[in-house]
Amino acid sequence: MIKTKIQQTLVIVKPDGLIKSLTGNILTALSETKLKIVGAKILKVPKKLAELHYGDLKERKPRVFPSAVKYLMGEFHTDRVLALVYQGPDAVANIRKICGATNPEEADPVSIRGRYGRINSKTGVFENVIHTSESVKSAEKEIRLWFQPGELTETAFKTQKIARTEEATIWA
Ligand code: PPS
Repeated sequence: MIKTKIQQTLVIVKPDGLIKSLTGNILTALSETKLKIVGAKILKVPKKLAELHYGDLKERKPRVFPSAVKYLMGEFHTDRVLALVYQGPDAVANIRKICGATNPEEADPVSIRGRYGRINSKTGVFENVIHTSESVKSAEKEIRLWFQPGELTETAFKTQKIARTEEATIWA
C-alpha cells in the first residue's frame, strides 16, 4: 500500500506570470492536482522578504541571488505576485510535477514552466513564471515566511497566541 501524507506547499505566481495574464491558466493547471487552496494573497514583495525567500542562494549561487531577488520584487515585469498555499496528499511533489523543472528549457514542454517560462537572454535569469517549494522542509520555512497563521483557513504548523498593539490601517 502506498502511503500519502497531507502536506502544505507554497506557490508563487511570479511577476512575469501576472504581467502575461497567466494566472488563470496556472490555477487551472494546478487544479488538476485536486489539492485545496488554504491561503491566497496578492502582494508587492519587499526586498527583505525576497532576500529571505532566496536566502540559501546567497551562498550557493551568489551570482544568481541578486537577480533572483530583483525578479521576485518585480523589477523586470510588474511589482506584484500571487502567493498561494495548497494543501492535500503529497502536495509538495504533486505541485512540483505540474510546475516542471526549475530551468524552463529543461522543463517538460507541457508543464507550467515548459509552456510559459523562458531564460532571459540578457540577464540569464530563469523567468519561470512560478515558484513552488522544493521539499516539505522548505515548504514549512516558506509558508511561515509568506503567511501569518490568520491568513490561512487551516494551519499545519505550530502557532502561539500573543497580545499586541500596533499601528494599522483600517477602513475609515
Ligand atoms: S536549481 O534547479 O538547482 O537551479 O534550483 P535551486 O538552486 O534550488 O533554485 C534556484 C532558484 O534561483 C532561480 N534562478 C536560477 N537558478 C539557476 N540559474 C539561474 N540562471 C537562475 N535564475 C534564477 C531559480 O528559478 C530558482 O528559484 P525558483 O523560485 O524556485 O524558481
